[in-house]
Amino acid sequence: MKDGTIPEHLRKYEIPERVAIVRGGGDLPKLSVRTNWSTAEIYLLGAHVTEFQKNGEPPLLFLSQASHFAAGKAIRGGVPIVFPWFGPREGRSQHGFARVTEWEWEGSSAGLDGTVTVRFGLPEDAARADGSPPSNVTFTVTVSDRLTMELAIVNPSATESLSFENCLHTYFAIGDIAEVEITGLQGTAFIDKVDNFARKSESAAAIRINSETDRVYLDATGTVEIHDLKNHRKIRVEKSGSASTVIWNPWVVKARQISDFREDEYKQMVCVESGNVAQNKMSLAPGESTSLRVVLSSQPI
Ligand code: BG6
Repeated sequence: MKDGTIPEHLRKYEIPERVAIVRGGGDLPKLSVRTNWSTAEIYLLGAHVTEFQKNGEPPLLFLSQASHFAAGKAIRGGVPIVFPWFGPREGRSQHGFARVTEWEWEGSSAGLDGTVTVRFGLPEDAARADGSPPSNVTFTVTVSDRLTMELAIVNPSATESLSFENCLHTYFAIGDIAEVEITGLQGTAFIDKVDNFARKSESAAAIRINSETDRVYLDATGTVEIHDLKNHRKIRVEKSGSASTVIWNPWVVKARQISDFREDEYKQMVCVESGNVAQNKMSLAPGESTSLRVVLSSQPI
C-alpha cells in the first residue's frame, strides 16, 4: 500500500494479523494492535495509547469526540505521556513536550501466547529543541487481556543529575461519573488543586466525584480500583515506580472551557494518573535509570 502519511521504513515492524501501521485521526500514523483478547491503538504522536478494548467489553479508555489529531497538539483522552514536567510551566506547554512529540516506533514482537509488545523511543532532538537536558526515554506497551505500559528513563549524562516529573495521564471510560467509586487512597495525603492547593488527607474509603476534582495524591504507591457500577465493571490500576496518583475530572464549568472536550463528556470519564509529580518529582544520578510501569485490567462486578 502506498500512502504518503505512513513512513514506509516502519512497515518492517508490522506483524501480520497482529500489528499494522495505519492512518488515524487527522491522517496521523497509528498502530492498530489485535490480540486474542483485545484490540489497542497507539499514535506515534506522543506514543499515545488511544484505545484498549477487551473483546465483548466497552472500551477501557475514554477518547473525546472533540479531540484534536494534529502534529504538535495533544490528543484528548487515552494515555497522554506527561514528561518532563507535570502541569503548567511558564512560557512552555502544559505537561511537557513528550505528548506533543512524534515518537519513533522501534520494534514489535508477538509472544507464543499471542501477547503483543510494541516499543517506542522519544527522539533525542525533542529535549534539545525544548532546551531541556538530554534523557533517554522509551515506552513499551504490551497488549493482552490487560494493558501494560512501561515508561523507562535513563540519565545519559556522565556528570549531571536529571530531574523531572512523569505521569501516565490515563483517561478511563466509565458508564456515569455519578455511579463511580474509586478505592485505594484512604489515609493518603493530597494536594487539592481546586481548593487553592491545600494539603489534605483522604478520609474516604470510596471516593465519589460530584464536583470539579483535581487532586495529587503523594507517596501513593498502591493499587487503585475504579468501581464502575453502571458498566458493571471494576478497573484495576496496578503500578510500580510511581509515588503519585492524580485524580482529575473537570466537571461542568471546566468542561465548557476545554475546547477539545465536549460539554457533557465529564460524565463519561475519570482520570486516574500514575507517575511522580510535585514533591515526588524524580532525580536520577548520572547513568541512573527508572521505570514507571502501569498495568490496567478489568473484571465484571
Ligand atoms: C491533570 C491536571 O492531570 O490534567 C489538571 O491535574 C489538568 O490540572 C488536567 O487540567 C488536563 O490537562 P490538559 O493540559 O491535558 O488540559
